[in-house]
Amino acid sequence: MPKITMTVNGQERSADIEARTLLSSFLREDLGLTGTHVGCDTSQCGACIVHIDGQAVKSCATLALQNEGREITTIEGLAKPDGTLHPMQTAFHENHGLQCGFCTPGMIMTATDMIKRYQASGAPLDEKAVRAELEGNLCRCTGYQNIVKAILDASTQMSA
Ligand code: FES
Ligand code: FES
Repeated sequence: MPKITMTVNGQERSADIEARTLLSSFLREDLGLTGTHVGCDTSQCGACIVHIDGQAVKSCATLALQNEGREITTIEGLAKPDGTLHPMQTAFHENHGLQCGFCTPGMIMTATDMIKRYQASGAPLDEKAVRAELEGNLCRCTGYQNIVKAILDASTQMSA
C-alpha cells in the first residue's frame, strides 16, 4: 500500500493507505478526526469541507494521495491549543447557527475561507454574498437564517 504524508492541524501525519482512499476517509478513519462529516455520496452536501493549503475543499472529492505534502486543517484544528474558540465558532454559538450540528463543521470551514477571501479582496461581504457562497453547503435543519447571521457577525469580529 502506498504511504501518504501530510500536515494535519499543524502535525505531520503518515499512514499506509489504499490508493482509492478519499481524503475524508483518511481523516475520519485513519486519523480519527471525525469532526469532518460525510453527509452524501454525490459531493453535494459540503459537510466534509476542510482547508487544503488554506482553501475550502470538499474532502470527499479528492483522494488522500492527491494531497501528499499538503497542509490540511479540519474543524478540530480551528480552536487555539488552549481551547479558545475561533471567532467563527463563537459566532455560530452566539447566533444559534445550528440545530443538529451535522452540517456545522463544513459550514464553519467554508465560512472562514469565505471571510479570508473577501477581506483579502476588499469586496463587501453582505447577506446576498454569504448566501451565494453557501451554495455548496446544505443544511436540512436551520433554514440558513442564523447561519448567515453568524457568518456576518464573525466577519465583523474578524475585521475589527
Ligand atoms: S460528504 Fe462531501 S459533499 Fe457530501
Ligand atoms: S444544523 Fe442540522 S443539518 Fe444543519
